[in-house]
Amino acid sequence: MAFPYPASLDEVERLASAVLPADVRDFVAGGALSEHVLRRNRTALDAVTVTPRILTGAPPVAARSRLLGTPAAMPVAVAPMAYQRLLHPDGEAAAAAAARDAGVPYVVSTMSSTPWEQIARTGADVWFQLYWTSDAQARHLVRQAERHGCQALVLTVDVPIMARRLRDVRNAFTLPNGVRAVLLDEGWEGEPSEAHQRTRGSAPARHTAGTFHPGLTADHVRRIRGWSDLPLVVKGVLDPDDARTAVRAGADAVVVSNHGGRQFGAAPAACTRLAAVAEAVGGRCSVLFDSGVRGGIDILRALALGADGVFVGRPVLWGLALGGREGVAHVLSLLQEELTEMLLLSGCRTCERARELTVEALAQ
Ligand code: FNR
Repeated sequence: MAFPYPASLDEVERLASAVLPADVRDFVAGGALSEHVLRRNRTALDAVTVTPRILTGAPPVAARSRLLGTPAAMPVAVAPMAYQRLLHPDGEAAAAAAARDAGVPYVVSTMSSTPWEQIARTGADVWFQLYWTSDAQARHLVRQAERHGCQALVLTVDVPIMARRLRDVRNAFTLPNGVRAVLLDEGWEGEPSEAHQRTRGSAPARHTAGTFHPGLTADHVRRIRGWSDLPLVVKGVLDPDDARTAVRAGADAVVVSNHGGRQFGAAPAACTRLAAVAEAVGGRCSVLFDSGVRGGIDILRALALGADGVFVGRPVLWGLALGGREGVAHVLSLLQEELTEMLLLSGCRTCERARELTVEALAQ
């Protein structure tokens, strides 16, 4: 079937949802508990107004930017997301190839279902996202990432355990044969990761509970800093004091994120914490944002709120489900076109100028 080229990211989601098995669709779309945080992310972003400037002589407009000091075609990276072969047989390799073509970084999850070699072969600018399991395995994973040419490390700090995701519990969600977290076992002499058998509840949640370190501290950030000279990103920050702690421990960037509404069920919408975090770090590290980005308009909002760039999550998976590499390429090109349009409409020549726009949140 010819790829349908949907007109927006929401349309990509609608079409992808219709072709996926219900339990996989739910695993991707779902959030923690009653999914209030998931909905809040969108409501809060929609309530952010940005006042456009006029008479600025804006063109020529460029969405080009820098992420962690490296040039990128736009201030966007593909968020780390587990088990991408659930969505398409080419999984992470297809998504990374599309990111390469779009000129944006691709963040490989610890829970990648595709081996290092296949991802590295795409030639993408790859960052590695670390879930801290044991100290020895974390060290091993960082070494593997460096060996495969990763350009940055992203430590995710908001998953001491996987939150209760009711859709996965009800579906007794389990991974199909052939889809598993292959990087956890690659070249690793320790215990293999637990199999995802179907019993009661969510198999990925059980796996996480038995595997992830539940008590990370600033010392874990410092340890990675000591292991590697790569830029270090701490993902899952909402409190300005935590952002300061991350910077003191050696982070080069923080990601203001509530994990797309998938973790703490009483969390604020991530975009409502962005300005406070940006102010707290005061330029001492980059500030990235995710959780709810669904178009160029949201990237502009995030920039105006003080972000240096955004991660985009689920829309990439919907694109992958709908058309593999072509589907992800379409999602990323929509984002670039929309952002360029938003810059033009708001009177900004560059992404950096967007940070000077007046931004307000409407009362909800
Ligand atoms: C994620 N996310 C995630 N984060 C992370 O650090 N490591 C991971 O392995 C995963 N896995 C994962 C799987 C799936 C299916 C989803 C939807 C999300 C969270 C992700 O990186 C990001 O924070 C959110 O997806 C951002 O929100 P949006 O853009 O999906 O609304």
